[in-house]
Amino acid sequence: MANGSFALRPEQLVLGIETSCDETAAAVVQADGTVLSNVVASQDEFHAHFGGVVPEIAARRHCEVITAVVDEALSRAGAKPEAISLIAVTTGPGLLGSLVVGAAAAKAYAIAWELPLVAVDHVQAHMAAAFLRLPSGEPAAADLWPSVCLVVSGGHTDLVVMNSPGERETVGWTRDDAAGEALDKAARILGLGYPGGPAIDRASRSGRRDAFSFPIPDVPGFEFSFAGLKTALARTVEQLQAQGAQLPVEDLAASFQEAVVNILWEKAHACARAYSARQLIVAGGVAANSRLRELFAERASQAGLRLAIPDRQFCTDNAAMVALCGADIYRSSGPTSLDFDVYSALPGP
Ligand code: KG4
Ligand code: ZN
Repeated sequence: MANGSFALRPEQLVLGIETSCDETAAAVVQADGTVLSNVVASQDEFHAHFGGVVPEIAARRHCEVITAVVDEALSRAGAKPEAISLIAVTTGPGLLGSLVVGAAAAKAYAIAWELPLVAVDHVQAHMAAAFLRLPSGEPAAADLWPSVCLVVSGGHTDLVVMNSPGERETVGWTRDDAAGEALDKAARILGLGYPGGPAIDRASRSGRRDAFSFPIPDVPGFEFSFAGLKTALARTVEQLQAQGAQLPVEDLAASFQEAVVNILWEKAHACARAYSARQLIVAGGVAANSRLRELFAERASQAGLRLAIPDRQFCTDNAAMVALCGADIYRSSGPTSLDFDVYSALPGP
């Protein structure tokens, strides 16, 4: 895959920039995946009041902090701009107003510092996260092919077969809500606030996973569906409220989360078996979920399947994954021409 004219030595530095949704992020990563800095400025406090991300607020906030976040990433890595060899930036899918800020900043840095720039797809970057390492550690994933990757985020629930690092085929997706979206909506139904996924995770720790049973959707192959599960939760809550009962919020959260995580495991495991995968990688914000990490570890060990889940800070949106993914793209295809645009979504499967 490596093309001689676009070679990067393992220790060369890549600056990653990520602004696809509501996190302003920058990171400095060596081309071999060693993370020297990983800065994420969360906007949660600005959106919490509205119960979800407000695109206009997100874009404005990115504008306000992007240069400070990049400066902080360089400073924490102990790197001056002259030490950087490549810039990588997320160009989609995501919120257009947010993406534009990161893309414009990346283009400006590339021109000012006379550096090549690579446009990176956000979902592809999530998959690269499993190959990041901290200076003292090892990457979660090994070079084992084929690998199956489950990407679980606020916008995606995909099963991707990877026959080699650059060869990917998406074989499963959701018919309706993504897993993260379902958890966010469940949190809203239960009055747990925003951001929902982490709130469900926390509430579930003191709840009973078997207190309620939610229907496992009957969808073929490697497709997912979470809309029915969410409706079942809403109905259960309505019924309990009609009876005047106090809502057992922790039990409901834990039981709902258990259903989501079980569905994810069953489909991912079936996919790994069908494609004789030597490794199962889990990526995206929902991979930060405590119960997912616990259940997948137990079941993968029982199934004799190698499991790779990135460190939590590399599961949720971050720029280290963008930097590493950018390094891979640069090696195989070279820089992206600076007239690239951003995109909100890829044409669906
Ligand atoms: O990958 P990500 O940070 O952004 C997108 O690309 O969408 O994923 C965000 C999703 C949200 O739905 C959020 O609620 C969920 O990941 N999430 C979690 C946890 N942390 C983030 N879901 C469950 N448990 C968590 N600890
Ligand atoms: Zn993401």
